[in-house]
Amino acid sequence: MTRPMKTDLKVNGELRSVTVEPRMTLLDTLRDELNLKGTHAGCEHGVCGACTVLVDGDAVRSCLMFAVQCEGMEISTIESSAPTEGEMDIIQDSFCETHGLQCGYCTPGMVLAAKSLLAREADPTDEDIREAISGNICRCTGYGQIIEAIRLAAKRLRESNIAAVPEASR
Ligand code: FES
Ligand code: FES
Repeated sequence: MTRPMKTDLKVNGELRSVTVEPRMTLLDTLRDELNLKGTHAGCEHGVCGACTVLVDGDAVRSCLMFAVQCEGMEISTIESSAPTEGEMDIIQDSFCETHGLQCGYCTPGMVLAAKSLLAREADPTDEDIREAISGNICRCTGYGQIIEAIRLAAKRLRESNIAAVPEASR
């Protein structure tokens, strides 16, 4: 067995120290060590996108990264999206409004994939949106309402001049 390593992670703006085996994925570290259960485990093979988080502003599959690789990087999980407890941000709200979720299993990953897209492209085409969520599988919605949700969120972010991802998290 490999010896556990102390790793300092910056998660949702806070420095969190964990001691994990080098083979422990970022996904398992977030869920099991830091109790951030909004990052969902699906295939655990890089196929479904349920485990998507932002690392330095890019949407990545946390089941394909080791926690020790992420030292010094800015990690954002779905828990950082809501402005305050019980509230939703513009992207989450748009998903609700357009019925862009049903069971919700894919939703954290979809919202973070959307956040990453909208941080670099304020006025995406439907093709851009499809491309951005192409690594995220949804078994329920048929994707149409998710695309509508992201289109609506983009419009609202533009109109209110709000950044999809705060500067400090990029
Ligand atoms: S759980 Fe990571 S891609 Fe499916
Ligand atoms: S809402 Fe159920 S998997 Fe997407």
